[in-house]
Amino acid sequence: MPMAADSFDPQAVRGDFPSLARLRGGKPPIYLNNTCMTLRPRPVIEAITAYYAEFPTCGGGRLDAQGRSSNWFQGELHEHEVESRRLMAELLGAASPSEIVWTRNATEALNIVAHGLQLEPGDEVVGCVREHNSNLVPWLEVERELRARAGDPELVVRRTFDLKPDGAFDLAQALEAISPRTRVLAIGHASNLDGTRISDEDLKTLADRVHAVGGVLVLDAAQTVPHRHVDVQALGVDFLACSIHKMCGPTAMGALYGRKESLTALRPFIVGGDTVSDTWLDRVEYKLPPGRFEAGLQHYAGMVGTAAAIRYVRDHVGFEAIEAHERRLNRHLTHRLLPLLGDHLQLLGPVDADQRGGVLTLASHSGALINAIERQADRQANVMVRVGMFCSNAYLHERFDTRGSAANNLRVSVYFYNTLDELDVFADVVEGVLADPVAAMDEGA
Ligand SMILES: Cc1ncc(COP(=O)(O)O)c(C=O)c1O
Repeated sequence: MPMAADSFDPQAVRGDFPSLARLRGGKPPIYLNNTCMTLRPRPVIEAITAYYAEFPTCGGGRLDAQGRSSNWFQGELHEHEVESRRLMAELLGAASPSEIVWTRNATEALNIVAHGLQLEPGDEVVGCVREHNSNLVPWLEVERELRARAGDPELVVRRTFDLKPDGAFDLAQALEAISPRTRVLAIGHASNLDGTRISDEDLKTLADRVHAVGGVLVLDAAQTVPHRHVDVQALGVDFLACSIHKMCGPTAMGALYGRKESLTALRPFIVGGDTVSDTWLDRVEYKLPPGRFEAGLQHYAGMVGTAAAIRYVRDHVGFEAIEAHERRLNRHLTHRLLPLLGDHLQLLGPVDADQRGGVLTLASHSGALINAIERQADRQANVMVRVGMFCSNAYLHERFDTRGSAANNLRVSVYFYNTLDELDVFADVVEGVLADPVAAMDEGA
């Protein structure tokens, strides 16, 4: 039974996370970099350990029963593989487990799609101005290849649409960018930079429009799958990429969802052992999806850990509790920080915390000030935040005066185990730094 959303108390789960029990200088860690990667609860750690301790073997065979031989250990691993793919399919609302491809992360999933679609010169890919580099660079590579093939360095492949002035999604501009040439709409579901998200209604409208012109919707859901219920069929998504390490799962574990017809039409990108049902000296017969996309030995501990992560996040904590608690946390932090900002710091994205999920990013013209806050947060209170451009370089260059620096932004991102008290500790650090910025910047610089 998931936990109740209105009375969720993070203290009910914090004991499950061994890393939260560590101390440095007598103080516990305050982990506020959850957008990048989350902490792991004991059931996930135990599941990963069980793989290495009990059945540490290679592929126990896949859904198409074309795996390796089936001995004792492989038989056990096979059961775990089947179960974790089933759970992943269920989590995303996929029609079948065979629509799930395991990857190392969302980035690999997006590359499999971009390189597998076999676009032709004249085809266009639409995305917004703030795509994460993982949903930008693969398409820029496709653009480069198509330009070379067409012998036209000016060929337009990728079209971008803008956002509202405060960074919120703008349906009208997105719809305008879709044309009869659009073969792919590749968009981020929620931003890792400012937390804004595309609503379900807008996403469905986009899916209908891109399908009407014969294209596919590729959703970078790295920042939504860990936080809310995402149903690929209800939303009309053709491909979805996500990372399990952002939802309490094993490091370097991700998933690609592909609608059966869409996945079958995709050309395998990374090929070799385990992707084929047979080979001859001059030809290859690929396995059916998902096998043809999972090349070489796989992250089996990751698969076993994924099942434990889904059970923990979805079934034990529950998405309603997660969303409600993140909203509570972000409202609190926003309320504490807004009066402090002044001319020194700017909040990225909408001021309204409810529009920013669990993310709050501060930007400054002074990289030294941002670094001072990060340094003081770490030294004084073991607070871990992230400083940088968060793989959103293109957007930051386009919209803001980035002055060539990668260190002018500081991001706080929360998950369900964070507390209001932890955010107060961080806000106190910011307050202290802003009270005497020169001293804070000098100290340890
Ligand atoms: C929106 C978004 N897309 C893609 C990624 C890439 O995720 P990964 O590094 O797990 O591939 C991230 C990572 O932060 C992200 O926030």
